[in-house]
Amino acid sequence: MKLRELRIADATRVAEIEAVLFAGDSPWPRTVFAAELAQPYTFYVGAFTGEDDDELIGYAGVAKLGPRDDPEFEVHTIGVDPSHQGKGVGRILMDQLVHAADQYDAPMFLEVRTDNIPARRMYESYGFFTLATRKNYYQPSGADAFSMMRHRASERATS
Ligand SMILES: CC(C)(COP(=O)(O)OP(=O)(O)OC[C@H]1O[C@@H](n2cnc3c(N)ncnc32)[C@H](O)[C@@H]1OP(=O)(O)O)[C@@H](O)C(=O)NCCC(=O)NCCS
Repeated sequence: MKLRELRIADATRVAEIEAVLFAGDSPWPRTVFAAELAQPYTFYVGAFTGEDDDELIGYAGVAKLGPRDDPEFEVHTIGVDPSHQGKGVGRILMDQLVHAADQYDAPMFLEVRTDNIPARRMYESYGFFTLATRKNYYQPSGADAFSMMRHRASERATS
């Protein structure tokens, strides 16, 4: 498996996987991924099979938001092709996102479906905790979300 930062040209394949993973929860289409990949404040990373970008099997992205000297990171998305789940790919991608935030000593935020146990367990293992419940957050499914936060590295070190 190989990791590299995603490019606008990857948006089509990312949207294909997204459509499978988030059916019923308004998966982002190619145009949205292409727009986000073009932004200077986003960081998206992909996991590929083989040495030559054979096939994208997972993707993850964050946005760096807020003041330049005190940013925060919002997890946009993370997903692994169903046939490759449960083999450590998600953790490798998540390592990249938390590393990006920790480089700025920045807190992280995300939303996750309350019934998404695999994702919640993964986030908790990185120190995320629940801030609030957001009713009917996902549409059209109407599923509830937890808003989760991970403290900045310097605060985690002292707590
Ligand atoms: C969440 C997701 C990205 C995890 O990717 P993955 O490659 O399957 O995960 P990994 O094999 O790297 O496992 C990482 C951690 O996730 C958790 N996890 C994964 N599968 C799990 C399961 N079936 N049950 C409970 N926890 C699970 C564990 O904490 C695991 O760590 P561990 O192996 O050290 O115990 C993947 O399940 C996915 O794409 N889900 C659909 C999309 C999605 O829900 N994205 C998150 C939106 S908020």
